[in-house]
Amino acid sequence: MWLAIRFILAQQVPPLALSRYAIPAPIFGPGRKNQLIFILSRLGIKHRMLIQAHWRKSMAQDLIRRATRALRRQGAFLSGVMLTQSEEKRAAEAAQFWSESENNETIKDKSHWRGFGRYADDDVWLKIGHTRLHELESLLALAGRGPAQSMIEWGPGGGSNAVALAPTMQKFYGVDISQANLDECGRQLRSVGFTNYDPVLVDPANIDLVKDACLAGIEPVDFFLSVAVFQHFPSKAFGLEILSLANRLMKPDGVALIQIRYDDGSIRMRAKNSNYRENAMFFTSYKIDEFWIAAEERGFRPLALKLMPEVCYAYYFLAKAGSQAT
Ligand SMILES: C[S@@+](CC[C@H](N)C(=O)[O-])C[C@H]1O[C@@H](n2cnc3c(N)ncnc32)[C@H](O)[C@@H]1O
Repeated sequence: MWLAIRFILAQQVPPLALSRYAIPAPIFGPGRKNQLIFILSRLGIKHRMLIQAHWRKSMAQDLIRRATRALRRQGAFLSGVMLTQSEEKRAAEAAQFWSESENNETIKDKSHWRGFGRYADDDVWLKIGHTRLHELESLLALAGRGPAQSMIEWGPGGGSNAVALAPTMQKFYGVDISQANLDECGRQLRSVGFTNYDPVLVDPANIDLVKDACLAGIEPVDFFLSVAVFQHFPSKAFGLEILSLANRLMKPDGVALIQIRYDDGSIRMRAKNSNYRENAMFFTSYKIDEFWIAAEERGFRPLALKLMPEVCYAYYFLAKAGSQAT
């Protein structure tokens, strides 16, 4: 009898339940529903209820499994159509998010403000700018050119790069979507005695206005920098527009250092299109070769690439195409 029940339950009862009731490993036999009805009719009420409970549980689990599979199959559709926010809404959310650094300590930390969160340790904060300084030296050497006199930092945040780089320049432009971050960058620059700082506030919801504001307010520079920013852009398309704009804002022999978060195929790293606030740290990404090709197509000559696989960071060392290199 128990052997027959074991055959019948073989495909219905999950292994955990089988072991709980000390029924050995399942083997399947045909016609299990009729057999079950036959066997149930000969069992006492206690055993009947036990088997029916098994059956119901397995049916429910099967239903959940099927529903989950169906939802997974529909996932691309849901995220691509129903859950997608408009580009404008995402950009507005991004602007709101980063402007909260004015009075939100978590956003100050995310914007790399000196003395907050991870940057309570001043060495950690200063190390950001020192690293950039070394990278700029490598970039200038790779491009075979002399020192840079002017630069733009796209997304300067709390000014950690600015305090290390600006004092080596005559002019420093900061372009950001957060007035609070531009102000904090200005405060940090003043604290190191640098005054030739031009902050440019842009609204990411209107790319044409972003371009107009930059082309009107910024003289072409020797060096364009953007680190820990492209991953926060509201879309991949927005990032490619900024890449084109960066090229236009550089002198003919200008150089650029741009870091992106690269898409390694994982769900976490792939580009998003909704819930900016939740996904802000991992919002936009590109495949490594995709961004390299995009840079070439927008008038850059890639000189080197540095990868940090533990955080999926890719740093592109770029020269304006047509400029000399050793
Ligand atoms: C993580 S902080 C990086 C600060 C600095 N680059 C660094 O490496 O320490 C990100 C900065 O990018 C700015 N940001 C976010 N989205 C931006 C956008 N679409 N355009 C310009 N800046 C943006 C934020 O306001 C913030 O200042």
